Amino acid sequence: MSVFLRSLGVAHPLIQAPMAGSNTPALVAAVSGAGALGSLGAGYLEPQALLDQAAQIRAATDRPFAINLFVLPDDFSVDEAQVATMRRRLDALMACEGLDVRTELPARWAPRFSDQLAALREARPAVASFAFDVLDQAQVRELQASGIRVVGTATSVAEARAWAERGADAVCVQGAEAGGHRGTFLHPAEEAMVGLFALVPLTVAAVDVPVIAAGGIMDGRGMRAAELLGADASQLGTAFLACPESAAADAWKRDLPQAQDHRIGTIYSFSGRAAQGLRNRFVEAMQPFAAELPPYPILNALTAPLRRAAAAAGRGDLLSEWCGQSATRVRPMLAAELVRVLVEEYATARCTPA
Ligand SMILES: Cc1cc2nc3c(=O)[nH]c(=O)nc-3n(C[C@H](O)[C@H](O)[C@H](O)COP(=O)(O)O)c2cc1C
Repeated sequence: MSVFLRSLGVAHPLIQAPMAGSNTPALVAAVSGAGALGSLGAGYLEPQALLDQAAQIRAATDRPFAINLFVLPDDFSVDEAQVATMRRRLDALMACEGLDVRTELPARWAPRFSDQLAALREARPAVASFAFDVLDQAQVRELQASGIRVVGTATSVAEARAWAERGADAVCVQGAEAGGHRGTFLHPAEEAMVGLFALVPLTVAAVDVPVIAAGGIMDGRGMRAAELLGADASQLGTAFLACPESAAADAWKRDLPQAQDHRIGTIYSFSGRAAQGLRNRFVEAMQPFAAELPPYPILNALTAPLRRAAAAAGRGDLLSEWCGQSATRVRPMLAAELVRVLVEEYATARCTPA
């Protein structure tokens, strides 16, 4: 039973993780409609698209849902020479791999965060969650004054404290097992790879707000284990990637069940920021240039045409196949059915003596 989610009228202690670029309004609505909390990862969306997708969710369900953003500056400084070198390398790789596209300079490297935040407030989801940095207290209060609960992502106890001090309603701790980008903001990412078994009880002891557990949880047993460690709810991302409602490319969905745990690790070369996924051909090809990668979101924008073309060509080996360490345990089924199975497994685990 989740204190945080119950207070919103959400029946089950289960959150579908925001997955920018891979989630859809249909996925979020299906999860929320099934009695868990669906989350729309809107980090890559321009403000109007965020509003449109929130409206699509509302048209499909009247249940609470979350919207998630990456906390970033509005503008980014760019090393032009580094960008030119990277474009040459990516273009050469695409030519060599037979992908008929080339890099291009985007109009903006990423949507303006302050505009996204204003759109989120207008969309008024029940929950707003954030990763990559911490909001200031005034921003947290403003959201709460609009009736929106605030959840901050933390990868260490210090980051969890930072969110709690800013007034967040709950903290989502992201263990080293987790798929996708690391939320780390106070430390170098490689210094904040704390496993979930350590991070949950440490954080529960350190902050007074509910702690949500994320990373490697794929079934109801895992949800129960997180609860026994003190978590108020579980947030699952990879588990929902293979659902038909997820926008993950078919090749990516196909590769997940075969992923070997030791081939899943931290990757910088798709986006310029630490993210966990399958170490595939692209990652190996970029290895020699590891010290010269443009930072996030510059590299993320530069690799976008390659990732789109790879998805269209069914080339999983060139795609950013983000996933957590338990990826092989995905179950391709409708999201509402997956919620039902997870909740049933969780109920069974609760009734089984340890
Ligand atoms: C494909 C993918 C995309 C993700 N995108 C986001 C995102 O947009 N915002 C965010 O806060 N977390 C994001 N995450 C991280 C999740 O919130 C969560 O920490 C993670 O999925 C938990 O680990 P698991 O994938 O093993 O369940 C993403 C994870 C995945 C797998």
